[in-house]
Amino acid sequence: MSTQTTTKAGALDQWISELSTAGLDAPWAQPGPLIRPKASAMKPRVWRWREIEPHVRRTPEFMQPGRGAERRILRLDNPGVPERTAGHTISVAVQYLLPGEVAPAHRHTPNAIRFMLHGEGAYTTIEGDKYAMRRGDLVVTPSMTWHDHGNEGAGPVIWTDGLDSPIVRYLETLHMEPFEGETQPVRTGPPARHLCYRWATAYAELVRRSTGEPDPFDDIIMEYVDPATGRSVVPALGCFLQMLRPGARTRAHRETSSAVYHVVAGSGYTEIDGVRHEWSEGDFVAVPPRAAHAHGNAGSAPAILFSFQDVPLLKALGFYRVEPA
Ligand SMILES: [Fe+2]
Ligand SMILES: [Fe+2]
Repeated sequence: MSTQTTTKAGALDQWISELSTAGLDAPWAQPGPLIRPKASAMKPRVWRWREIEPHVRRTPEFMQPGRGAERRILRLDNPGVPERTAGHTISVAVQYLLPGEVAPAHRHTPNAIRFMLHGEGAYTTIEGDKYAMRRGDLVVTPSMTWHDHGNEGAGPVIWTDGLDSPIVRYLETLHMEPFEGETQPVRTGPPARHLCYRWATAYAELVRRSTGEPDPFDDIIMEYVDPATGRSVVPALGCFLQMLRPGARTRAHRETSSAVYHVVAGSGYTEIDGVRHEWSEGDFVAVPPRAAHAHGNAGSAPAILFSFQDVPLLKALGFYRVEPA
């Protein structure tokens, strides 16, 4: 009997080997369910501004912008994500430019979103339209639009970049090309598209909403919306601005989407799957898909969070789910 079983197992192994040679696989021959649940590669994590800032200010020692090294960035590295991006769908970096420097014009399939952090004199030119970038401004570079950046100020400038490049890479359509020349000619007249969302406008709207009904999971939150389409600023990623009022403590929920938060002002905490992550101004926080998360602000001043979230992608595919946790 045992000889027969061994023979049968040996025959199966032999057959699986033949299948492999033929480019076939019999997944049911492995133990476990046919469609196996996969734990999220993206892990909860906080990146501290007090660690980011000194490192980003050291980058000029080691990197001069130019062809082949076009952007002086430090990328947020999530230890669980194989591509070493902040999330499995979102790449987030902090970019640094010294006075007089230019990040040469190029274009690529990933959409890019900039949120301005520090310094005066930064600009981004998109398809010939030049946008000044001041603290809290949001500038969108849609897929395959030419863009260059520069710093016309007297001191360094720092902003954060959010890209959907991990999605583009997964779809095997990652493409990039340099512009002929370092910078684009700048057009005059009103811009062709609405690609810049000013801080003063966004913050005024958030403050206006803060007297209304709070969201149980996010306190006061709003999404940046393209006025031309009524949709998220880029197809896969949404950008949100959020206020946690003093003493706010939200309910926890789970979403199939993921998020990377940046703390614009104030301090507070986010509980992710029962672990409390404290944060303060300048920090970044990654919340993986399906993790239970709630936010709180125990301080006496409002906490302001900006976030990149892949909610629009999940919704477009029919995979967005949210439930209280
Ligand atoms: Fe770019
Ligand atoms: Fe959430």
